[in-house]
Amino acid sequence: MLNLLLFIFAYLLGSIPFGLVLGKSLFNVDLRQVGSGNIGTTNAFRGLGPKGGLLVFLCDMLKGGIPVLIGMLSPFTWHPLLFGAGAVLGHVYPIYLKFKGGKAIATSFGIVFAFDPLFAILAISSFFVILYFSRMVSLASILSIFFAILISFFWHDWVLTIVTAIIWIVVVIRHKENIQRIKAGTESKIPFGYHHKR
Ligand code: G3P
Repeated sequence: MLNLLLFIFAYLLGSIPFGLVLGKSLFNVDLRQVGSGNIGTTNAFRGLGPKGGLLVFLCDMLKGGIPVLIGMLSPFTWHPLLFGAGAVLGHVYPIYLKFKGGKAIATSFGIVFAFDPLFAILAISSFFVILYFSRMVSLASILSIFFAILISFFWHDWVLTIVTAIIWIVVVIRHKENIQRIKAGTESKIPFGYHHKR
C-alpha cells in the first residue's frame, strides 16, 4: 500500500509542468507557443533563455529524483527506479495538462542520477559527445538513452535495464516530430535561433 501511495505521489509530482508554470509566472512566456512547443528543458532554453532553461532543467530533474530518493528509504520494497518511472509517466502524460506533457529527458536524467550518479554521468557524457558533433539536442537525447540501455548491462540490475529501455521507447515516441525533422534536415540546432512556434 505504501509503495502504491509513493508511486501515485511520484506520478502527481511528475505531472507538475514546471516549464509551463515557470515560463508563465516568471517570464510571461507560454512555452507551448514558442520553438518546438514542448514544455521541457530544451524549449525552455529557447523560449526563456539560459536562466529559465537551467531552472526548468533543475525542477524537472528534481521531480524525477525525489521519488527515487524516497524509494531508497527502508519502508519501500519496490525497486526505487519504479517510483522514478511514475514521475516520468507523470511528466510525459500529466494529469494537469490533459495528459499532454514533455519528452522525458530531464526527468529521466533525474531518476538515474538519484539512483546511481556514475550511471547517469556516463549517459550524459555520451549526450554531450553526440550534441557536440550533431548540435541536435533531440538526436543526442535519443542516442544517449539508447547508449544507457547498453551500459546498464554492466550494472547487473534488470530493473535498471528494463526501466531504461521503456524510457527509451517513450522518448522515441515523444520525439516523433523531431525524428521527422532530423530526417528532413530541418531539426533545430544549437545555438538556438528561433522563438516562434513551428
Ligand atoms: O528536451 C527534449 C529534446 O530532446 C527535444 O526538445 O524542444 O527540441 O523538441 P525540442
